[in-house]
Amino acid sequence: MAVTLERQTFTVEPLSPVLGAAIIGLDLRQPLDASTQRAVYDTFVRYHVLCFRDQHLDQDQQVAFSEQFGTLEHHIASNRGKINPLVHIVSNLGADGKPSGKVSSTRWHSDKSFRPQPSLATLLHAQVMPPNGGETCFANMIAAYEALPAAEKAELAHVRVVHSWEISRARGGGKATPEEIADAPPMSHPLVRTIPETGDKALFMGEHAAYFEGQPEEVGRVRLEQLTAHAVEERFVYRHQWTLGDLLMWDNRCLLHRANTNFDAARFPRVLQRTCLRGAATA
Ligand SMILES: [Fe+2]
Repeated sequence: MAVTLERQTFTVEPLSPVLGAAIIGLDLRQPLDASTQRAVYDTFVRYHVLCFRDQHLDQDQQVAFSEQFGTLEHHIASNRGKINPLVHIVSNLGADGKPSGKVSSTRWHSDKSFRPQPSLATLLHAQVMPPNGGETCFANMIAAYEALPAAEKAELAHVRVVHSWEISRARGGGKATPEEIADAPPMSHPLVRTIPETGDKALFMGEHAAYFEGQPEEVGRVRLEQLTAHAVEERFVYRHQWTLGDLLMWDNRCLLHRANTNFDAARFPRVLQRTCLRGAATA
């Protein structure tokens, strides 16, 4: 599908039946005119993941592109070697600059879901990628919600979930610092949130989702594990195989994502630059 606007034109090619579209023909180093910006945002809401092909943005250019769609967040954890404080470098490199064997963000999550205003969108731009594997995987939480039996939807309708950076760090084998805990106290959100532009309902959970508010922790934890197992079934998932030059922009309100570890992370570098747009309070 070609979208022709005042000055700028781009083509939209769906990436999979379940979510995602490639955007071809835009140079993101140039500011978007107002109608293109609107068309890009509408396409983002419709497909949930946009892949802008053939982009080569430095950190400041990625910040400038991202800020056309909202306000950027700082990253919670320390970020070695950053040039622009609004850009987070996602990589498997150790302090010596060599592949460390460790890949981060391998558990299904929604970025910054522990914030009072969780992230609207994340933008991730490939810098160095392994020859194969290392995909970013996405699961469609609108489709996963819609596939639930009516009785389960009714049961979950008013559940609130406490999201906690401290608990998710501990469950992942790490430890949040006192500064991080003070910066990101536990925060509750509805388990089923509504996407304002469409009225669609989506499951909102992921690795920071710790337990159900007002219920014993174990009850919510088990239920969240069951729901996640359902929501990341193959039928709801798209795996993005990166090509250098890809810049992905995805909707954290209605997706879970994770990095795939199916490459030799002790041998091949995988480096991406990330910006994150603040969202609105959940409803
Ligand atoms: Fe993430």
